[in-house]
Amino acid sequence: MDKILIEGGRPLQGEIKISGAKNGALPIIAATLLCPGTHILYNVPELRDIRTILQLLGTLGATWERIDTNTLKINSDQITEFEASYELVKTMRASVLVLGPLLARLGRARVSLPGGCAIGARPIDFHMQGLQKLGAQLELEQGYVDAKVCGRLRGNTVYFDIPSVTGTENILMAAVLAEGTTIIKNSAKEPEIANLIDMLTGMGAKIEGRDTDRLTIHGVKELKPAEIAIIPDRIETGTFLIAVGAAGGDVTLTNCNPAHLPSLFEKLRSSGIYLEAGERSIRVIRSGPLKNVDIKTMPYPGFPTDLQAQIMALMTLTEGLSVIHENIFENRFMHVAELRRMGADIMVEGGKAIVKGQGRLDGAQVMATDLRASASLVIAGLAARGITEISRVYHLDRGYDDLVGKLGAVGAKIWRETGN
Ligand code: EPU
Repeated sequence: MDKILIEGGRPLQGEIKISGAKNGALPIIAATLLCPGTHILYNVPELRDIRTILQLLGTLGATWERIDTNTLKINSDQITEFEASYELVKTMRASVLVLGPLLARLGRARVSLPGGCAIGARPIDFHMQGLQKLGAQLELEQGYVDAKVCGRLRGNTVYFDIPSVTGTENILMAAVLAEGTTIIKNSAKEPEIANLIDMLTGMGAKIEGRDTDRLTIHGVKELKPAEIAIIPDRIETGTFLIAVGAAGGDVTLTNCNPAHLPSLFEKLRSSGIYLEAGERSIRVIRSGPLKNVDIKTMPYPGFPTDLQAQIMALMTLTEGLSVIHENIFENRFMHVAELRRMGADIMVEGGKAIVKGQGRLDGAQVMATDLRASASLVIAGLAARGITEISRVYHLDRGYDDLVGKLGAVGAKIWRETGN
């Protein structure tokens, strides 16, 4: 298995280009299933999760080609199958995003239940209840959700107890072809949802309430293929901002959207990091000591759970006490044990981590446990004294486009070793 090695303690200097958002691209790729024709997607990141969803689309009958590194042409004229197998869903939960579009287009979808994962139980009950509200008949058999509808889905009101990102996306994609109007109350309002709404609108869907927690979808009979650019990855952007905060230095991130990280900006500025936002760029400088801040993860525009592990690594480098509440996923502290191996003092009490900053970390052998936890170990390694060796780095390949290359180009001493 591959490893990443980092010799820490070098400030970062230069420019990094941010890739398209993984969590923006995944639902948009799924949305191409909604109607026949050729769709063109720009700014698609090169990631394992993207290859997985394309593989899934291939098993359903779609074809695709990369016109260039980040431009993808998907043809969905022939959708002949309606099953997302356990083999694919177990490697990537977001495979569940084909449920809504398949049901809307074919009146049938069979999707493996994802099961738990490293960060929590992550059920899909909201997706299922929402689709039932739209008239789908759902049965659970042998670990699969089998969904059917006679004729078209029918518009209705769907309410989420907690705003769910992929839940909102699935219901949106199902509702655009339903008969009548659907209202999604307490919907998620992450920027990736607005990206999907723009794609669906380009396909001819009628959606009101973009960027709010109440979406109104007036179903249409037919959609047409569309073109869209995937938004910049705000979690990759945030990861690099925190990395420069941890390692020190002066870096400009390009091709990003500073408006998508309001809460991270607040927290980084409070911890002594200088940020200068341009329209599509961010300059980040850290030269002085870091200050401790408290964090509570919340749905957008609150502090993203997908940056919690990374900011925790940063907080271990302060000389104060930082309390980090994880409010979205119940088990997202797997990085704590690994950070402790690097000298961090962190105590976990339920959904709360208390970080006693030691002002430093030491390089160690650590293990990546999920995608964002892996990123936090890279950040810790950049700041630590000595060498950090991170194993199980396949998690990083799921969601970071050329992380090692991008950090190396700004002066980090980081390299990958290929193992068996
Ligand atoms: N929830 C339920 N039932 C459901 C759906 C969600 O109880 O049917 C709960 C979840 O257990 C969680 C909360 O609702 O406590 C919110 O989860 P959400 O559904 O929003 O998460 P998701 O859609 O499965 C997406 C991202 C995650 C990101 C979360 C939260 C994609 C493909 N995935 O997951 O991204 O952490 O939203 O922002 O968009 C990552 O990229 O590393 C990643 C895990």
